[in-house]
Amino acid sequence: MKHNKKIFGLAGAGMITLMLSTQALAHGDVTPQAVDTAGLESLGEEWLDQNPYGEDHEKYALAVEIGESAYNQNCARCHGLEGVSGGIAPDLRFLEPGIDGDEWYQYRVVNGAVRDGRVYMPKMAEHLSQEALWAIRAWLETKYVEQ
Ligand code: HEC
Repeated sequence: MKHNKKIFGLAGAGMITLMLSTQALAHGDVTPQAVDTAGLESLGEEWLDQNPYGEDHEKYALAVEIGESAYNQNCARCHGLEGVSGGIAPDLRFLEPGIDGDEWYQYRVVNGAVRDGRVYMPKMAEHLSQEALWAIRAWLETKYVEQ
């Protein structure tokens, strides 16, 4: 990922994400981008109910940084760059902060969203680690917008 950034710059990486988006939506496929979570403690296999990388976590800043990049690589093509939805999928800046939002977030990334056999959102937890997904949640909370 760092590699990508170096070669294309952020804008380039964004464009590639956008180019992939039509295909991803048509098939419900994902082209997961590996997320380097080095530096964050490992959380094990069992899913936590609450984001362990809260503001008081010693690695909070690192989690937010990893989360931003991981979001832009893996979620932005549906949920919008920087968390600003273009209307294809819900705007994740509106997710409630704290444990209530955490629970819903966890439910969706683990289960995805399938209706009438159509995959609206893939099970992202099959592609990304728990560490990466909670890091994304930590970053998303920095973008929280009250509705
Ligand atoms: C292929 C498109 C796609 C990708 C990729 C995707 N999502 Fe989604 N996501 C959706 C759609 C569509 C919904 C709405 C599902 C529904 O209507 O029930 C959704 C719903 C959600 C919700 C619930 C939002 C709410 O307001 O109820 C969360 C949380 C979420 N996604 C997180 C993520 C995260 C984090 C990633 C990246 C790791 C991600 N999604 C990747 C399409 C996607």
